[in-house]
Amino acid sequence: MIRTDDLTVSFGETRALDGVDLRVRDGEFVTILGPSGCGKTTLLRAIGGLQSPTAGDVRVDGRPPAAAQTAGDLGFVFQNHTLLPWKSALGNVTFLRRLAGKDPAPEAARDLLATMGLAGYEDARPAALSGGMNQRVSIARALHLGADVLLMDEPFGELDELTREEMGIAVRRVWQREDRTIVFVTHSVPEAVLLADRCFVMCGPPGRIVRAVDVELPRPRDETVLESAPFHRTVATVRTVLSEGADAIQ
Ligand SMILES: Nc1ncnc2c1ncn2[C@@H]1O[C@H](COP(=O)(O)OP(=O)(O)O)[C@@H](O)[C@H]1O
Ligand SMILES: [Mg+2]
Repeated sequence: MIRTDDLTVSFGETRALDGVDLRVRDGEFVTILGPSGCGKTTLLRAIGGLQSPTAGDVRVDGRPPAAAQTAGDLGFVFQNHTLLPWKSALGNVTFLRRLAGKDPAPEAARDLLATMGLAGYEDARPAALSGGMNQRVSIARALHLGADVLLMDEPFGELDELTREEMGIAVRRVWQREDRTIVFVTHSVPEAVLLADRCFVMCGPPGRIVRAVDVELPRPRDETVLESAPFHRTVATVRTVLSEGADAIQ
């Protein structure tokens, strides 16, 4: 379980997070949604141990995030991919497992690249791929590492809408198969609903969680979900919570 208790992060005068109490259960897929600047990245970085709290506490499976990271239980995907330019797509995907002293499992890595729509590009270096393709390589790399908890910060930022939906559904498929916990940051309402079991809506600064919205949609999900009445209903609910913003807390 991931928990933050009264988590506050300040940058000088800016309160990026103000008393955030978050609970994410093991095996849950949650999204964090909110307008630009409301503290989403700061929250994700604090969960990952990349940002120290000004006050309050963060625990990942009962440990400080740094300990979870050292144990290889935390994986990250950032907005800007950080692939090694001299390695192929396949080499990048297997690299983190090598580094962690695990079996690089190249066949499983190939399968993941194929799931991400990159079959045939295994040997290509980052410079030969588009920004969106490299993002997909970095998502495959994080999934391949096999960490229990995966933190993803707007990982589909450079992808067009159709590819985003496809990738979202692919990530959910891998998540469901392998029993991970995923915390996924986005500013897209449909994406937040399509992916999540629960969607945490934020407002800010000061960054706060307005409400957690349960997303009750079928599993596994495919493209047809996007046309369904429950999907549209949940999107409408989330939009209302977003527009109420800070007024809704109290
Ligand atoms: N390293 C930093 N130094 C100073 N201010 C920061 C820093 N990181 C974030 N902030 C500020 O904290 C607030 C939340 O930022 P961020 O977490 O990046 O929001 P989001 O990811 O939701 O767009 C913003 O006002 C931002 O300007
Ligand atoms: Mg951000």
